[in-house]
Amino acid sequence: MASITIRQLDDDLKRHLRLRAARNGRSMEDEARTILRDAASLEAGKIEARADAHRRAAPRGRHVADAPAREAGAAHAAGTKHILLVIGGGIAAYKALDLIRRLKERGLAVRCILTKAAQEFITPLSAGALSGERVFTDLFDPGSEFDVGHIRLAREADLVVVAPTTADLMAKLAGGHADDLASAVLLATDRKVLLAPAMNPHMWQHKATQRNLARLLEDGVALVGPSAGEMAEAGEAGVGRMAEPLEIAAAALSLIGHGEGALEGRRVIVTSGPTHEPIDPVRYIANRSSGKQGHAIAAAAAAAGAHVTLVSGPVNVPDPPGVAVVKVTTAQDMLAAVTKALPADVAVFAAAVADWRIAKPQANKIKKGAGGSPKLALTENPDILATVAHDARKRPRLVIGFAAETEHIIEHAKAKLARKGCDWILANDVSAAGGAMGGERNTVHLVTAQGVESWPPQSKEEVARGLIVRIAETLAGAKR
Ligand code: CTP
Repeated sequence: MASITIRQLDDDLKRHLRLRAARNGRSMEDEARTILRDAASLEAGKIEARADAHRRAAPRGRHVADAPAREAGAAHAAGTKHILLVIGGGIAAYKALDLIRRLKERGLAVRCILTKAAQEFITPLSAGALSGERVFTDLFDPGSEFDVGHIRLAREADLVVVAPTTADLMAKLAGGHADDLASAVLLATDRKVLLAPAMNPHMWQHKATQRNLARLLEDGVALVGPSAGEMAEAGEAGVGRMAEPLEIAAAALSLIGHGEGALEGRRVIVTSGPTHEPIDPVRYIANRSSGKQGHAIAAAAAAAGAHVTLVSGPVNVPDPPGVAVVKVTTAQDMLAAVTKALPADVAVFAAAVADWRIAKPQANKIKKGAGGSPKLALTENPDILATVAHDARKRPRLVIGFAAETEHIIEHAKAKLARKGCDWILANDVSAAGGAMGGERNTVHLVTAQGVESWPPQSKEEVARGLIVRIAETLAGAKR
């Protein structure tokens, strides 16, 4: 049998062992021996009995919920994805209970950690009852360390969701702190972390929070919310409300690739990139669209199993894998290609189509001459989105447009939704300050007949995956 010395243990384990040993008045070696003896001799029933006794002995809310708790680490159905939900201490914690339900409705296993502050708002009992799993609260809890331990908690999840993420949790994570179970798990995990911040607007706007946010985004965390609205504090409004549980669930699903196969058998058309409208054989009118967002949507739809036709203007991004790409130049070509690709279940119009073309493009290069600057007469291009949305025979079930705006983003998007006859508009800020045009990230607002949902700044791939999850849910008629 291999021999292990305390010295060989990793620092984290050593620290816990030291603490446990000190608490139990044993040397570290004795403590390790006790743990091993227990592990070897106790049968599963005895372990459960011990945990039960511990549960009963523990002060209220300190350890595990007395829920229909499954043994931690028990096998879930093969292929089930696991979410570790860290619930922070804020008034929005009550929404985390609904989030547990929403995640479970979507076939995910959920295990919860409640911070100390969270327990001021909700109890481990309710989180345990809803998740059907033990709830963890304490870094130095011998019961949970013995059975699971924070390292296993951190590693056994497919995704870690922090909802609500308080300003304090953000600061801890940005600073790499690990002085309680939630922060230790966040530091120990190698899984994607999704934050759903919730705090007073002044706290959200504070330089320290924004600094932490920038650091966390750079570190690769994903973000959902916060949105704007009324706060729990009377008379307070602004950005800081936690995203709704459905939004968080959609973001979680998209991050763990749960959408795989969700669009199996569906036909999706996506337009992408700019159009080029010729002035003469060498010159054209164009815009700054890179095609990144449209191509990412086509790629995400294909990854979800859809049959995708991507009608793309001239771009420098590669063709997404598994997608039928039709390359076009002008708006008129784009309309023809989209019409040819119908029928479809869904059409997403992400292209930045030139609104006007030159009425009479010249067959030969226009030369400088005595006549002075040429006058370019423009004529309006067909509106591809509106044409398809108003096609009584071939209208796809879901017609989705983008609204590229530089001001009054939401109002203009709402007007566009009505004017163009589409189902959803993803409105994005394309002002130079927004950085969406040609950039890697996008801040969009999903405008539907039901209302407006503001998504956090995300990579274009994340926006695409989020959109595909929403499309799949809607086509499947999932509860909304
Ligand atoms: N669109 C289209 N065909 C056009 C113009 C726009 O299909 N000729 C689609 C875009 O792909 C996008 C939506 O319509 O999904 C809105 O595009 P946008 O440029 O924001 O709006 P416009 O209709 O051009 O209105 P405006 O420029 O006045 O804001």
